[in-house]
Formats: sequence, structure tokens, C-alpha cells
Amino acid sequence: MEKVRLNNGISIPYLGTGTNTYGKENNDYNGELNGDFSALESAITLGYRLIDTAISYRNEAGVGETIKRSGIPREEFFITTKIPADDEYIKDKNAVRKTLDDSLNHLQTDYIDLYLIHKPIEDDEKLKQTWEVLEEYVSKDKIKTIGVSNFSIDDLKRLDQFATVKPAVNQIKSNPTHWNNEWIKYMFTEDIRPQAWGPMKTTDKHKAQLAEIGERYDKSWSQVLLRYQTQRGIIVIPKSHNEENQKANLESMDFLLSEEDMRKIDQL
Ligand SMILES: NC(=O)c1ccc[n+]([C@@H]2O[C@H](COP(=O)([O-])OP(=O)(O)OC[C@H]3O[C@@H](n4cnc5c(N)ncnc54)[C@H](OP(=O)(O)O)[C@@H]3O)[C@@H](O)[C@H]2O)c1
Repeated sequence: MEKVRLNNGISIPYLGTGTNTYGKENNDYNGELNGDFSALESAITLGYRLIDTAISYRNEAGVGETIKRSGIPREEFFITTKIPADDEYIKDKNAVRKTLDDSLNHLQTDYIDLYLIHKPIEDDEKLKQTWEVLEEYVSKDKIKTIGVSNFSIDDLKRLDQFATVKPAVNQIKSNPTHWNNEWIKYMFTEDIRPQAWGPMKTTDKHKAQLAEIGERYDKSWSQVLLRYQTQRGIIVIPKSHNEENQKANLESMDFLLSEEDMRKIDQL
């Protein structure tokens, strides 16, 4: 799997798997936990190593257990999780420390590759203290890389006022219904790597346009869509409960779109 270097020198796979409905009844985000991590097992068997979870998904423990049971060495994985912006988790520095320690325990690991703040923390003081604890865990080597999610340009500027360690990643929505190009452009100028959540969400009209482009490469609409993002430097974390789709998503990395086709997709 092709990787990209983050602003702290650490490399991350360009493509990974989301997990927000894994381990849940009816593959429903809000469904009861049912311990069924077969979709994650199949992703790992197919070769996925970047795994994106979050405390809000309630499935860190099952994700950790599935990774452990795979028998694949820990260092081959790149595990991401996220701290919610709710008071319960961030009300003071000790609350943040407890949240991070719980993640380490649930994920059954000595270190987390990437820890994100899931949503902007509106209160500057709480944002500052949360970031300071994340930095503390980087210095203790319990977290390798820290970043944010759903941060606007203004949110990134607020963080920049006091961050000693710069965020390496901003995980944001990006798909043909909303590329989010203004934020993405700013992130590239600041050396903050964009990572796209919800990368598969699109309309039937866009799917038909992407499929037409794909015919030239013998690729599907979904592979063209993912390749467009990775080819322009954006990490993607598509999630699928279907082994065929998981495999197809991995195979989006083995071709290159022409400049002309990249421009066409820009204009969707
Ligand atoms: N930071 C945040 O605020 C935030 C917000 C949302 C999500 N996320 C993260 O981003 C991950 C991805 O986002 P998401 O799960 O919301 O949406 P997504 O990955 O864009 O879309 C998932 C849907 O796409 C379908 N799909 C996947 N591959 C396909 C393919 N090759 N062909 C056709 N359909 C395909 C899946 O159906 P099948 O199961 O049938 O394949 C599923 O219904 C999440 O799992 C989560 O880890 C983060």
C-alpha cells in the first residue's frame, strides 16, 4: 500500500478502512453492539492496515480485539481514534488523560498511531488543554501523531495560536456532493494532510459520470472516485461490509487517472 509522509515524518497509508458501523446490529451506526467484526476481519485479511475508529463509535474494544486476534504484528497497523468534543471527555486535563488511557486499554496497545479531536472544541481554554495533553502523550510516545477532524480554517487558526506540535491531519468530509476544496487548499498550504471521511457518498448522476471515465481504465465509479482523491494527495477511509467492495476499494490504488480526467472530476 502506497504511503504518504506526514509533517512529523511519519508515514500513513493512503487508503484505509472506516469502522463506524462495525460490531453493530444491522450495520447501523446507532445499532446495539453485537460483537460482529467480520467486516473488519475481512478487511484485514485483504490487506487493510489503516483502521479508523473513534470513541463515539463505541467499538474501540472490538476493533482492538480484532486487530490483536489477526496475529499480524502491531507495528504493521496504523490505528486512528478520536476524542469527542464533549465535556465528559475534555472537561479538564485529567479527564483528557483518562480518555486517552481508556483508548489505549480498549485498543489493547501501548501506542496509538493517530489521535484526532473528533469535532472542533468551541471553548478556547478546553481546546488548549486538550491539545496540551495530546502533546504530552506524544512526548511519552503513547501517541505517535496528533490531529483534528471537521476543523474549519478558523478552527485551525485558533489551534495554531498555542499548538507546540502542529496537527498532522484534518479528517473532513470530502466527496462529490461537497469536495470541501477551500479547506483542503488551506491545509495543503499549511502542510496539514487532508483525510476524507464519507468518501463514497455521491449521487446517481455523479456515479454515471465516474463510471464513464472508469471505462477507459476498466475501473468502477467507486474506484475512480477513490483514485481521484488519493491522486490529489488526500487519504481516504472508505467503509464497506461487503468483501467484494473492500477488495475493489484497495484496487483503486493500482492505476492513474489522466490529467484531463482529474480535471473532469474536479468539475463534477
Ligand atoms: N470524522 C468524522 O466526523 C467522521 C464522520 C463520518 C465518518 N467517519 C469515518 O469515515 C469512515 C467512512 O465514512 P462512512 O462510513 O460514513 O461512509 P463511506 O465510506 O463514504 O460510505 C459507506 C458506504 O459506501 C458503500 N461502499 C463502500 N465501498 C463501495 C464500493 N466499492 N462500491 C459501492 N459501494 C461501496 C458501503 O456499502 P457496502 O457496505 O454495501 O459496501 C456503505 O454503504 C467511517 O466509517 C468513519 O470511520 C468520520
